[in-house]
Amino acid sequence: MNDQPSSATVAAMDAAALEYEALSAVAEASTLDDLDRARVRYLGRKSELKQALREVRDRDTGMALNTTRERIEDAVEQRKAGLERAVLDERLAEGRVDVTLPGERPARGHLHPITQVRRIVEDAFLGLGYHVRYDREVETVEYNFDKLAFPPGHASRSPRATFFLNGGTLLRTETSPSQIHEMEARRPPMYMVSIGRCYRRDAIDATHYPIFHQFEGLAIDRGITLADLKGTLLNVMRVLFGEDRRVRFRTHYFPFTEPSMEPDVSCGICDGAGCRTCKYSGWIEMGGSGMVDPTVLENVGIDPEEWSGFAFGCGLERVAQLRYNIPGVRELWDDDLRVLGQF
Ligand code: DAH
Repeated sequence: MNDQPSSATVAAMDAAALEYEALSAVAEASTLDDLDRARVRYLGRKSELKQALREVRDRDTGMALNTTRERIEDAVEQRKAGLERAVLDERLAEGRVDVTLPGERPARGHLHPITQVRRIVEDAFLGLGYHVRYDREVETVEYNFDKLAFPPGHASRSPRATFFLNGGTLLRTETSPSQIHEMEARRPPMYMVSIGRCYRRDAIDATHYPIFHQFEGLAIDRGITLADLKGTLLNVMRVLFGEDRRVRFRTHYFPFTEPSMEPDVSCGICDGAGCRTCKYSGWIEMGGSGMVDPTVLENVGIDPEEWSGFAFGCGLERVAQLRYNIPGVRELWDDDLRVLGQF
Protein backbone atom coordinates (compact mmCIF):
# COMPACT_ATOMS: atom_id res chain seq x y z
CA MET A 1 0.00 0.00 0.00
CA ASN A 2 1.21 3.34 -0.92
CA ASP A 3 0.15 5.94 1.63
CA GLN A 4 2.25 8.68 0.02
CA PRO A 5 -0.12 11.37 -1.27
CA SER A 6 -0.02 11.88 -5.03
CA SER A 7 1.80 14.95 -6.40
CA ALA A 8 -1.59 16.42 -7.37
CA THR A 9 -2.79 16.10 -3.79
CA VAL A 10 0.35 17.82 -2.50
CA ALA A 11 -0.14 20.59 -4.98
CA ALA A 12 -3.79 20.99 -3.93
CA MET A 13 -2.85 21.18 -0.24
CA ASP A 14 -0.11 23.71 -0.94
CA ALA A 15 -2.51 25.73 -3.07
CA ALA A 16 -5.07 25.85 -0.25
CA ALA A 17 -2.46 27.07 2.22
CA LEU A 18 -1.18 29.62 -0.24
CA GLU A 19 -4.71 30.81 -0.97
CA TYR A 20 -5.45 31.19 2.73
CA GLU A 21 -2.30 33.20 3.24
CA ALA A 22 -2.94 35.37 0.17
CA LEU A 23 -6.56 36.08 1.07
CA SER A 24 -5.53 37.11 4.60
CA ALA A 25 -2.91 39.49 3.22
CA VAL A 26 -5.48 41.00 0.84
CA ALA A 27 -8.04 41.38 3.61
CA GLU A 28 -5.48 43.04 5.88
CA ALA A 29 -4.30 45.55 3.27
CA SER A 30 -5.51 48.86 4.62
CA THR A 31 -4.26 51.05 1.77
CA LEU A 32 -4.06 50.69 -1.98
CA ASP A 33 -0.27 50.51 -1.68
CA ASP A 34 -0.49 47.63 0.81
CA LEU A 35 -2.86 45.87 -1.52
CA ASP A 36 -0.55 46.29 -4.48
CA ARG A 37 2.34 44.82 -2.52
CA ALA A 38 0.14 41.79 -1.64
CA ARG A 39 -0.88 41.42 -5.30
CA VAL A 40 2.75 41.42 -6.48
CA ARG A 41 3.69 38.97 -3.77
CA TYR A 42 0.93 36.41 -4.50
CA LEU A 43 0.12 36.98 -8.16
CA GLY A 44 3.25 38.61 -9.59
CA ARG A 45 5.48 37.00 -12.21
CA LYS A 46 7.90 35.77 -9.56
CA SER A 47 5.23 34.63 -7.10
CA GLU A 48 5.11 31.07 -5.83
CA LEU A 49 1.80 30.54 -7.56
CA LYS A 50 2.96 31.76 -10.98
CA GLN A 51 6.09 29.62 -10.68
CA ALA A 52 4.02 26.56 -9.76
CA LEU A 53 1.73 27.23 -12.72
CA ARG A 54 4.69 27.36 -15.07
CA GLU A 55 5.95 24.03 -13.79
CA VAL A 56 2.61 22.22 -13.71
CA ARG A 57 2.56 18.80 -15.45
CA ASP A 58 -0.86 17.34 -14.82
CA ARG A 59 -4.36 18.59 -15.47
CA ASP A 60 -5.73 18.34 -11.89
CA THR A 61 -2.90 20.33 -10.38
CA GLY A 62 -3.26 22.94 -13.11
CA MET A 63 -6.97 23.29 -12.48
CA ALA A 64 -6.47 23.54 -8.69
CA LEU A 65 -3.79 26.21 -9.07
CA ASN A 66 -5.85 28.18 -11.58
CA THR A 67 -8.85 28.16 -9.28
CA THR A 68 -6.64 29.48 -6.50
CA ARG A 69 -5.30 32.19 -8.81
CA GLU A 70 -8.82 33.26 -9.78
CA ARG A 71 -9.97 33.44 -6.17
CA ILE A 72 -6.99 35.56 -5.18
CA GLU A 73 -7.50 37.81 -8.21
CA ASP A 74 -11.18 38.28 -7.31
CA ALA A 75 -10.30 39.06 -3.71
CA VAL A 76 -7.74 41.68 -4.87
CA GLU A 77 -10.30 43.30 -7.19
CA GLN A 78 -12.94 43.46 -4.48
CA ARG A 79 -10.57 44.81 -1.89
CA LYS A 80 -9.33 47.38 -4.40
CA ALA A 81 -12.86 48.60 -5.09
CA GLY A 82 -13.53 48.82 -1.34
CA LEU A 83 -10.37 50.79 -0.63
CA GLU A 84 -11.01 53.16 -3.54
CA ARG A 85 -14.49 53.86 -2.29
CA ALA A 86 -13.11 54.61 1.19
CA VAL A 87 -10.57 57.05 -0.26
CA LEU A 88 -13.29 58.77 -2.26
CA ASP A 89 -15.61 58.95 0.76
CA GLU A 90 -12.85 60.55 2.78
CA ARG A 91 -12.13 63.13 0.08
CA LEU A 92 -15.82 63.96 -0.19
CA ALA A 93 -16.13 64.36 3.57
CA GLU A 94 -13.10 66.67 3.66
CA GLY A 95 -14.35 68.78 0.78
CA ARG A 96 -17.86 69.12 2.09
CA VAL A 97 -19.19 72.69 2.04
CA ASP A 98 -22.06 73.87 4.18
CA VAL A 99 -23.74 76.31 1.88
CA THR A 100 -26.03 77.48 4.69
CA LEU A 101 -23.13 78.93 6.74
CA PRO A 102 -22.91 82.75 6.70
CA GLY A 103 -20.32 83.99 4.16
CA GLU A 104 -17.21 86.00 4.89
CA ARG A 105 -17.80 89.67 4.25
CA PRO A 106 -15.04 91.40 2.28
CA ALA A 107 -13.63 94.35 4.22
CA ARG A 108 -15.16 97.55 2.89
CA GLY A 109 -13.21 100.79 2.72
CA HIS A 110 -14.60 104.28 3.09
CA LEU A 111 -13.56 107.79 2.15
CA HIS A 112 -10.62 109.40 3.89
CA PRO A 113 -11.77 111.93 6.52
CA ILE A 114 -10.25 114.76 4.47
CA THR A 115 -12.29 113.70 1.45
CA GLN A 116 -15.38 113.46 3.64
CA VAL A 117 -15.02 117.01 4.94
CA ARG A 118 -14.10 118.31 1.49
CA ARG A 119 -17.43 117.00 0.22
CA ILE A 120 -19.30 118.49 3.18
CA VAL A 121 -17.66 121.88 2.55
CA GLU A 122 -18.51 121.65 -1.15
CA ASP A 123 -22.13 120.86 -0.32
CA ALA A 124 -22.31 123.75 2.14
CA PHE A 125 -21.17 126.22 -0.51
CA LEU A 126 -23.19 124.70 -3.34
CA GLY A 127 -26.19 125.26 -1.07
CA LEU A 128 -25.31 128.97 -0.94
CA GLY A 129 -25.10 129.19 -4.74
CA TYR A 130 -21.30 129.08 -4.95
CA HIS A 131 -19.53 127.11 -7.65
CA VAL A 132 -16.59 124.84 -6.84
CA ARG A 133 -13.25 125.09 -8.62
CA TYR A 134 -9.96 123.23 -8.38
CA ASP A 135 -6.73 124.90 -9.41
CA ARG A 136 -3.15 123.87 -10.13
CA GLU A 137 -0.86 123.02 -7.22
CA VAL A 138 2.22 124.20 -9.14
CA GLU A 139 1.75 127.97 -9.22
CA THR A 140 3.74 130.91 -10.41
CA VAL A 141 5.24 133.51 -8.10
CA GLU A 142 3.03 135.98 -9.93
CA TYR A 143 -0.23 134.29 -8.96
CA ASN A 144 0.80 132.97 -5.55
CA PHE A 145 2.26 136.31 -4.37
CA ASP A 146 2.47 139.25 -6.80
CA LYS A 147 -1.15 139.58 -7.90
CA LEU A 148 -2.26 139.01 -4.29
CA ALA A 149 -0.25 142.12 -3.36
CA PHE A 150 2.32 140.35 -1.19
CA PRO A 151 5.05 142.98 -0.63
CA PRO A 152 8.56 142.13 -1.96
CA GLY A 153 10.06 141.26 1.43
CA HIS A 154 7.15 139.16 2.77
CA ALA A 155 8.33 136.15 4.82
CA SER A 156 6.34 133.66 2.72
CA ARG A 157 8.45 134.56 -0.32
CA SER A 158 11.52 133.06 1.34
CA PRO A 159 12.76 129.67 0.12
CA ARG A 160 12.86 128.74 3.77
CA ALA A 161 9.07 128.99 3.92
CA THR A 162 8.06 127.93 0.42
CA PHE A 163 8.98 125.09 -1.97
CA PHE A 164 10.28 126.88 -5.08
CA LEU A 165 10.59 125.01 -8.37
CA ASN A 166 12.24 126.19 -11.59
CA GLY A 167 11.58 129.37 -13.54
CA GLY A 168 9.40 131.36 -11.18
CA THR A 169 7.20 128.42 -10.17
CA LEU A 170 6.47 127.04 -6.73
CA LEU A 171 4.14 124.69 -4.89
CA ARG A 172 1.25 126.94 -3.92
CA THR A 173 1.35 127.95 -0.28
CA GLU A 174 -2.38 128.64 -0.08
CA THR A 175 -5.52 128.41 -2.22
CA SER A 176 -5.69 132.22 -2.52
CA PRO A 177 -4.26 132.23 -6.10
CA SER A 178 -7.66 130.77 -7.07
CA GLN A 179 -9.14 134.19 -6.34
CA ILE A 180 -7.01 135.65 -9.13
CA HIS A 181 -7.77 132.81 -11.56
CA GLU A 182 -11.48 133.16 -10.86
CA MET A 183 -11.54 136.93 -11.24
CA GLU A 184 -9.54 136.74 -14.48
CA ALA A 185 -11.80 134.04 -15.91
CA ARG A 186 -15.19 135.63 -15.13
CA ARG A 187 -16.94 138.91 -14.74
CA PRO A 188 -18.67 139.74 -11.45
CA PRO A 189 -20.94 138.95 -9.76
CA MET A 190 -19.17 135.76 -8.76
CA TYR A 191 -19.35 133.34 -5.86
CA MET A 192 -16.77 130.58 -5.81
CA VAL A 193 -15.04 128.18 -3.45
CA SER A 194 -11.72 126.56 -4.35
CA ILE A 195 -10.47 123.45 -2.55
CA GLY A 196 -7.18 121.64 -2.72
CA ARG A 197 -3.69 120.88 -1.52
CA CYS A 198 -1.16 123.46 -0.40
CA TYR A 199 2.50 123.15 0.56
CA ARG A 200 4.79 124.85 3.05
CA ARG A 201 8.26 124.07 4.34
CA ASP A 202 7.02 123.28 7.83
CA ALA A 203 8.65 120.72 10.10
CA ILE A 204 6.19 117.95 10.97
CA ASP A 205 4.64 118.22 14.42
CA ALA A 206 1.20 117.73 15.97
CA THR A 207 -0.31 120.70 14.11
CA HIS A 208 1.94 121.04 11.03
CA TYR A 209 2.53 118.95 7.95
CA PRO A 210 4.24 120.20 4.76
CA ILE A 211 1.18 119.20 2.73
CA PHE A 212 -2.26 120.33 3.79
CA HIS A 213 -5.61 121.35 2.35
CA GLN A 214 -7.45 124.64 2.27
CA PHE A 215 -10.79 125.86 1.05
CA GLU A 216 -10.95 129.39 -0.22
CA GLY A 217 -14.08 131.40 -0.74
CA LEU A 218 -14.57 134.49 -2.86
CA ALA A 219 -17.66 136.59 -3.37
CA ILE A 220 -17.68 139.68 -5.60
CA ASP A 221 -20.86 141.62 -6.14
CA ARG A 222 -22.33 145.09 -5.79
CA GLY A 223 -22.67 146.36 -2.23
CA ILE A 224 -21.00 143.42 -0.46
CA THR A 225 -20.13 144.22 3.16
CA LEU A 226 -18.39 142.67 6.14
CA ALA A 227 -21.82 141.59 7.39
CA ASP A 228 -22.15 139.34 4.33
CA LEU A 229 -18.79 137.77 5.13
CA LYS A 230 -19.75 137.14 8.72
CA GLY A 231 -23.16 135.74 7.82
CA THR A 232 -21.63 133.44 5.23
CA LEU A 233 -19.00 132.10 7.62
CA LEU A 234 -21.60 131.67 10.36
CA ASN A 235 -23.77 129.65 8.00
CA VAL A 236 -20.88 127.44 6.89
CA MET A 237 -19.56 126.88 10.42
CA ARG A 238 -23.03 125.80 11.49
CA VAL A 239 -23.25 123.34 8.61
CA LEU A 240 -19.83 121.97 9.53
CA PHE A 241 -20.09 121.93 13.31
CA GLY A 242 -23.70 122.31 14.39
CA GLU A 243 -26.50 124.85 14.77
CA ASP A 244 -25.41 126.37 18.09
CA ARG A 245 -22.01 127.58 16.88
CA ARG A 246 -21.14 131.28 17.01
CA VAL A 247 -18.56 133.17 14.97
CA ARG A 248 -16.41 136.13 15.93
CA PHE A 249 -13.70 138.15 14.18
CA ARG A 250 -10.28 139.26 15.38
CA THR A 251 -8.54 141.95 13.38
CA HIS A 252 -5.45 140.75 11.54
CA TYR A 253 -3.34 141.51 8.49
CA PHE A 254 -3.28 139.83 5.09
CA PRO A 255 -1.75 141.49 2.02
CA PHE A 256 -4.80 140.94 -0.19
CA THR A 257 -7.65 142.01 2.11
CA GLU A 258 -8.55 145.29 3.74
CA PRO A 259 -9.72 145.12 6.43
CA SER A 260 -8.44 141.62 7.33
CA MET A 261 -9.83 139.39 10.04
CA GLU A 262 -9.29 136.00 11.52
CA PRO A 263 -12.60 134.25 12.12
CA ASP A 264 -13.05 132.15 15.26
CA VAL A 265 -15.79 129.59 15.88
CA SER A 266 -17.08 128.92 19.38
CA CYS A 267 -15.62 125.79 20.91
CA GLY A 268 -17.94 122.80 20.58
CA ILE A 269 -16.46 120.95 23.55
CA CYS A 270 -17.14 123.63 26.20
CA ASP A 271 -19.55 125.86 24.22
CA GLY A 272 -17.34 128.87 24.91
CA ALA A 273 -16.70 128.33 28.60
CA GLY A 274 -13.03 127.40 28.07
CA CYS A 275 -11.39 123.98 27.93
CA ARG A 276 -8.20 122.27 26.79
CA THR A 277 -9.30 122.02 23.16
CA CYS A 278 -9.77 125.80 22.84
CA LYS A 279 -6.83 126.55 25.14
CA TYR A 280 -9.30 128.01 27.67
CA SER A 281 -10.35 130.83 25.33
CA GLY A 282 -13.76 129.45 24.37
CA TRP A 283 -12.90 130.05 20.69
CA ILE A 284 -11.12 128.15 17.93
CA GLU A 285 -9.22 129.86 15.11
CA MET A 286 -10.56 128.97 11.68
CA GLY A 287 -8.23 130.73 9.20
CA GLY A 288 -8.15 134.12 7.51
CA SER A 289 -10.64 136.42 5.84
CA GLY A 290 -11.35 139.99 4.85
CA MET A 291 -12.74 142.37 2.26
CA VAL A 292 -10.89 142.00 -1.04
CA ASP A 293 -8.31 144.79 -1.25
CA PRO A 294 -9.08 147.32 -4.03
CA THR A 295 -5.50 146.85 -5.29
CA VAL A 296 -6.21 143.18 -5.94
CA LEU A 297 -9.41 144.06 -7.83
CA GLU A 298 -7.46 146.55 -9.95
CA ASN A 299 -4.78 143.86 -10.60
CA VAL A 300 -7.44 141.80 -12.41
CA GLY A 301 -9.24 144.71 -14.06
CA ILE A 302 -12.32 144.89 -11.82
CA ASP A 303 -13.47 148.41 -10.90
CA PRO A 304 -13.40 148.71 -7.09
CA GLU A 305 -15.79 151.65 -7.28
CA GLU A 306 -18.49 149.41 -8.74
CA TRP A 307 -17.70 146.05 -7.13
CA SER A 308 -16.68 144.86 -3.71
CA GLY A 309 -16.22 141.46 -2.18
CA PHE A 310 -14.95 139.28 0.57
CA ALA A 311 -12.61 136.31 0.72
CA PHE A 312 -11.66 133.70 3.27
CA GLY A 313 -9.42 130.69 3.59
CA CYS A 314 -9.57 127.77 6.07
CA GLY A 315 -7.69 124.54 6.60
CA LEU A 316 -9.56 121.32 5.84
CA GLU A 317 -7.43 119.39 8.35
CA ARG A 318 -8.64 121.75 11.05
CA VAL A 319 -12.24 121.05 10.06
CA ALA A 320 -11.63 117.28 10.08
CA GLN A 321 -9.89 117.45 13.46
CA LEU A 322 -12.76 119.37 15.03
CA ARG A 323 -15.52 117.30 13.47
CA TYR A 324 -13.98 113.94 14.34
CA ASN A 325 -12.05 114.93 17.44
CA ILE A 326 -8.65 113.95 16.00
CA PRO A 327 -5.86 115.32 18.21
CA GLY A 328 -3.20 116.06 15.52
CA VAL A 329 -2.74 116.35 11.75
CA ARG A 330 -0.18 113.57 11.40
CA GLU A 331 -2.92 111.00 11.99
CA LEU A 332 -4.52 112.17 8.75
CA TRP A 333 -1.41 111.47 6.70
CA ASP A 334 0.03 108.29 8.24
CA ASP A 335 -2.47 106.04 6.43
CA ASP A 336 -2.83 103.85 9.50
CA LEU A 337 -6.12 102.04 8.95
CA ARG A 338 -6.53 101.50 12.68
CA VAL A 339 -6.86 105.28 12.96
CA LEU A 340 -8.59 106.14 9.69
CA GLY A 341 -11.07 103.29 10.02
CA GLN A 342 -12.68 105.09 12.96
CA PHE A 343 -13.96 108.03 10.93
N1 DAH B 1 -4.25 132.55 2.47
C1 DAH B 1 -4.28 132.78 3.89
C2 DAH B 1 -3.37 131.76 4.59
O1 DAH B 1 -3.12 130.72 4.03
C3 DAH B 1 -5.67 132.66 4.44
C4 DAH B 1 -6.55 133.75 3.93
C5 DAH B 1 -6.60 134.95 4.59
C6 DAH B 1 -7.36 133.54 2.84
C7 DAH B 1 -7.43 135.98 4.15
C8 DAH B 1 -8.20 134.56 2.39
C9 DAH B 1 -8.23 135.77 3.07
O2 DAH B 1 -8.99 134.41 1.33
O3 DAH B 1 -9.06 136.75 2.63
O4 DAH B 1 -2.96 132.02 5.67
